[in-house]
Amino acid sequence: MSSTATRAGARNANRSFDLQAYVAERTEQVNAALDRFLPSEKTKPATIHKAMRYSLFAGGKRMRPALTLAAAEACSGDIAEAMPLACAVECIHTYSLIHDDLPAMDNDDYRRGKLTNHKVFGEGIAVLAGDALLTQAFEIAAQCNTWKRYDMRQIILEIAKASGSLQLIAGQVADLEGEGKKLTKQELEYIHERKTSALLCCSVRLGGMSANCTPKQLEALTEFGYCVGLAFQIIDDILDITQTSEQLGKTAGKDTQAQKATYPSVVGLEKSKKIAQQLTDRAFKSLGVFKGKAVALEALAEYLLKRDR
Ligand code: IPE
Ligand code: IPE
Ligand code: MG
Ligand code: MG
Ligand code: MG
Repeated sequence: MSSTATRAGARNANRSFDLQAYVAERTEQVNAALDRFLPSEKTKPATIHKAMRYSLFAGGKRMRPALTLAAAEACSGDIAEAMPLACAVECIHTYSLIHDDLPAMDNDDYRRGKLTNHKVFGEGIAVLAGDALLTQAFEIAAQCNTWKRYDMRQIILEIAKASGSLQLIAGQVADLEGEGKKLTKQELEYIHERKTSALLCCSVRLGGMSANCTPKQLEALTEFGYCVGLAFQIIDDILDITQTSEQLGKTAGKDTQAQKATYPSVVGLEKSKKIAQQLTDRAFKSLGVFKGKAVALEALAEYLLKRDR
């Protein structure tokens, strides 16, 4: 990970901001909170809690919770207030990965540098571990405080909409149905906006809400989350063809093998990089309203564009 925010386009970037240390600290805090929220491995039925924890603590980059906490900070919020929401989005993300890897979906054997959930626990338990993590997310989110501008109903709606059949699931459906087909850039954008950008955008917005952000701040966070989220999946598509499996912790080259519709396959590798760069520029621009307080968000956007895993 690049340790400083150096991008020239990052108008407000504090060049001495140490993103590596920031992410390491936030990851530790998120892991400790997740550990408190989840039933222990020994809790009956032990198999399901082992399976949930296996994938949750397998070593993900924790980018969604980091974005939630950074968004809260940009709005002068307290990260303790945002923590249940940060944990909730990571549970939803992990559930989506367990199901995404199933033989009936992308059929992957490795995730986060380890065997996939179904390879260790079997398909039945993997399906249930995903179901349980999705449900766990709502249980955790329901434990957060509410704020003057945002009540519990809005928080729950926010998470349900981003992960439901019009967003994350819609994207996953279109992704499966797009296999082996030649899609247009618009059709591909539809997939990526939903399967990935929706939850990333939700992660950022929840951070703002936990800090009782103004409508103007929420609008800026929405634009930021949308752009960073779409760029995130474009980069994921690029990494699938440019990196090794060891580097990614998941099998490289799977998209080509499964004839997935990806940015490189539809618009080419160079154009894909350019689009991700343009989206990141748009994301930076949206942070103007925070008047220099969004340093962590800026550094995260920078890292997410340049990441190599
Ligand atoms: C992978 O997400 C799945 C996509 C939505 C592209 P991440 O790259 O954030 O995976 P982890 O959490 O670090 O394992
Ligand atoms: C995953 O997209 C999106 C969701 C899990 C919602 P991919 O299928 O491209 O993710 P990887 O490459 O398996 O991590
Ligand atoms: Mg997939
Ligand atoms: Mg996949
Ligand atoms: Mg992928």
